[in-house]
Amino acid sequence: MDLAIVAGRANPGLAAAVARRLRVELGTLTVEQFPDGELGVIVGVLRGADVYVIQSTGPPVHDHLAELALLADAVRRSGAARITGVIPYLAYARQDRREQEGQGIGARIIADFIGALFDRVVTVDLHTSAVEGFFGCPVEQLSAVPLLAAHIGSSVAEHVVVAPDLGAVKRAERYARALGLGTAVVRKRRLSGREVEATAVDGDVRDRPVVVVDDMISTGATIEAAVRVLRGAGALQATVVATHGLLVPPADERLAALGLTAIVVTDTVPPPSTRGALTVVSVADLLADAVGRLHRDEPLAELVRQA
Ligand code: R5P
Repeated sequence: MDLAIVAGRANPGLAAAVARRLRVELGTLTVEQFPDGELGVIVGVLRGADVYVIQSTGPPVHDHLAELALLADAVRRSGAARITGVIPYLAYARQDRREQEGQGIGARIIADFIGALFDRVVTVDLHTSAVEGFFGCPVEQLSAVPLLAAHIGSSVAEHVVVAPDLGAVKRAERYARALGLGTAVVRKRRLSGREVEATAVDGDVRDRPVVVVDDMISTGATIEAAVRVLRGAGALQATVVATHGLLVPPADERLAALGLTAIVVTDTVPPPSTRGALTVVSVADLLADAVGRLHRDEPLAELVRQA
């Protein structure tokens, strides 16, 4: 089976970088938007190919999801032998349980939707690893944590690694192990989609620099609340590291007001124009390595998320 890569329009820079590393030409794609907003997708002939469809599902989430579905269908009808969805950022993964009666579970319905399109899915740092089990098809969860930990490396010696909420504790422990640092946890309560409240810090951060680690920064509410409560507890300078830098408004203003030493994210969603303390670490090598191994039916080994 020949290897083929087709990419949607969500993150063209990342898709091109993955294709370059694999020395494969990106497959042709024509997308037409009809006057009523519907999309029409045409791909080249892919008969008998092992096809990797790269499309992140960051904002605008539903446009990118619709394009992903149309793309997968076009690839299948074009004769592909095997289709893998490479979805560096998977939207809706945060909705992994019901918090009140009457609520739906977004992650479950998106898993059904995406699982029906592909033979296999590759993604990076799911909000929670349990979401893998929502899918009916195999899911390979890659992790950008080793990459990000290596990037911040010596710049965070003497820091305390902080989980900005209880859900981030395992992730913080993985960073802490990689960096040889201790951990602390912020107690957070979400008030709405844009507002959270941090009430206390478990762990000693007094007179210590901190590195706050999370899976994603969306509106910046979690980071803002965490950094403020950490400062209240006596922490010194703060660095923030997250895999998915969605940075939707008002994240810019919130983060800028915090006077952070550094903000480090990856390019699972297109990096925003360079601003202040923001650094973007590319996951192109990670994805290319994973696609190459999957194509050759080799184990993913250290590329896959560890507990
Ligand atoms: C929540 O559990 C997630 O891990 C993130 O902390 C959160 O979704 C980030 O969103 P925001 O930046 O809007 O607080």
